[in-house]
Amino acid sequence: MIGAGYVGLVTGTCLAKLGFDVLCLDTDAERVAALKGGRSPIYEPGLDALMEKQVAEGRLRFDRFEPKGVARADFVFLAVGTPSLPGSDEADLSQIFDATRMVAPQLRPGACLVVKSTVPAGTNSAIRAIVSDRRPELAFSVVSNPEFLREGRAVEDFLRPDRIVVGCHDAAGRAGMERIYRSFMEQSVPVVFTTPENAELIKYAANAFLAMKVAFANEVSDLCEATGGDVRDVVRGIGLDARIGPSFLQPGPGFGGSCFPKDTRAFVDIGRRLGRPQRLVEAVVAINEDRKESLASRVSEALGSCAGKTIAILGVAFKPDTDDLREAPALRLIPALVEAGAAVRFYDPQVDADGVSELEGADQAPSLAAALEGADAAVLVTEWAEFRMLDLVSARRRMSGATFIDFRNVYSREAMDEAGFLYHPIGSAPLRDDARSPEQAGSGRRQRQAVGDGQVAVG
Ligand code: UGA
Repeated sequence: MIGAGYVGLVTGTCLAKLGFDVLCLDTDAERVAALKGGRSPIYEPGLDALMEKQVAEGRLRFDRFEPKGVARADFVFLAVGTPSLPGSDEADLSQIFDATRMVAPQLRPGACLVVKSTVPAGTNSAIRAIVSDRRPELAFSVVSNPEFLREGRAVEDFLRPDRIVVGCHDAAGRAGMERIYRSFMEQSVPVVFTTPENAELIKYAANAFLAMKVAFANEVSDLCEATGGDVRDVVRGIGLDARIGPSFLQPGPGFGGSCFPKDTRAFVDIGRRLGRPQRLVEAVVAINEDRKESLASRVSEALGSCAGKTIAILGVAFKPDTDDLREAPALRLIPALVEAGAAVRFYDPQVDADGVSELEGADQAPSLAAALEGADAAVLVTEWAEFRMLDLVSARRRMSGATFIDFRNVYSREAMDEAGFLYHPIGSAPLRDDARSPEQAGSGRRQRQAVGDGQVAVG
């Protein structure tokens, strides 16, 4: 396994679980040292325990990348990064091409190069050409085998896939993949055997489509706000149509992570360069950018102004169950709030924000309670389980103000009202004192009056 990042580590560990003898190689010395010491460099539920077991049973090893490391391998998986090129939307393929050049002289006859990295159509052919040029006499296969792992659920996604996609031109490559995925095929997991070009396109198209569903839900959510609707009912109402499906229709602060943003941009770039513009996905990229850009003004609107206010941010990871901050909406929101004059505190159960420049103007709170203490407003950005189960009444008491902005629509209006919050969900009208008649106001309103808005006893 070349690359012990999120894809390589999860895939390598899971292949070891399937019984293969796996050596994960990485150029990052610190990462390899951590792995050799039994520590996973990423937070991924279930991964540490699985890794430990495979290492203990002798099927999983880690080492510094060295081309000779592949000399005995039947399968060489390429799981290196393909980030956007600096200042461009194009995927940077230098890592995958460099790795191919380095391992080519060491490949054993019959070896199968398996491309896990997300790459534009045609990259597998280029990889084949790199090896053939250097080893014209060598019999080898190149297989495109994209991954569909979600961060936070990657182990489960590997072990219980919806489908497996295998793109190759030769029978040996196909037979190799049948060997790797035999146990899944025995469980009737569908395997799409196709060309490498199709497999490469499937990966980008799948991420682009899912990102499009999210962007669509976000736009419908805005429309609901303008029309007095409630997006929760609207997405439920459309998602129950089996042709649409309920997943990836939850509006939020915009999609982030290491995949959707870069893969949608790369898809757009490929379409433009080939003269087949992907106009829907172009719109998705723009919609998502606007969404992240608008987050701070939503908070300002809810508070009147951010200047001089203390704001508690609940969650900065791009989604729950990961410590990944790449393209996280919080990295756009927090600097904009600081710029607007707010004192920002954030709390995240897993993220270590040391050295993250976007978060430098804000304070990392050691606990949720510390983040909320005396805050004028709470903003829920990442729907960690811990934030889904808040004791709302005591959260309200800890805070000085009553504003709660919920970018993930985790709470019901009733529960928020009951706890005395001025609740701002997305995709429906906010719950404000001035928007309701006294008869409409729940006990929360009475509680606010009793303790005095903005002057709540803490504890
Ligand atoms: C995504 C894909 O879901 C995986 O299938 C794919 O393998 C992976 O990219 C990849 O290419 O490696 P991931 O980035 O881990 O996985 O995260 P998702 O669960 O897809 O979420 C992406 C973003 O969309 C997050 O910011 C999330 O908060 C947002 N989202 C998702 C919503 O706002 N609403 C939804 O309904 C779903």
